[in-house]
Amino acid sequence: MKLLIINGPNLNLLGIREPELYGKRDFAALERYVRDVCDSEGIECELFQSNYEGAIVEKIQQALGAFDGIVINPAAYTHTSVAILDALKAVALPAVEVHLTDVDAREPFRRISYAGMACEKTFKGLGFEGYKEAILYLKNKMDSP
Ligand code: DQA
Repeated sequence: MKLLIINGPNLNLLGIREPELYGKRDFAALERYVRDVCDSEGIECELFQSNYEGAIVEKIQQALGAFDGIVINPAAYTHTSVAILDALKAVALPAVEVHLTDVDAREPFRRISYAGMACEKTFKGLGFEGYKEAILYLKNKMDSP
């Protein structure tokens, strides 16, 4: 089983960026965390981060035939990007949305998730743990479809 883990804009600044919201651990720590989860579950993974909407769309398109599922934190593009929604719908791979924070408990504009409309599940407000939940959800789904 091979998963593509996508992180959107500004997540590369974890640790520096609004630590009271996103925590003090940096992006390298998040990547290590995700790789460790995948290793311990025997899952192959590729991690991709971009600050560019089009790069994320292209990566999703390239996932077709190359990955079994997608875990995505589209960050701010969550709330704006129909292009990411359409790309997820186009490849139709099982996808799970993750947010470090509880987007529903923040500003009203964060309550809309376009990407989430193409995802089977959303884990929000769980910090790094949300990525683990998303990976385990996809693993369970593949193990017992
Ligand atoms: C985020 C929540 C988004 O609203 C925000 O724009 C982000 C990060 C999260 O992980 O909590 O950049 O996706």
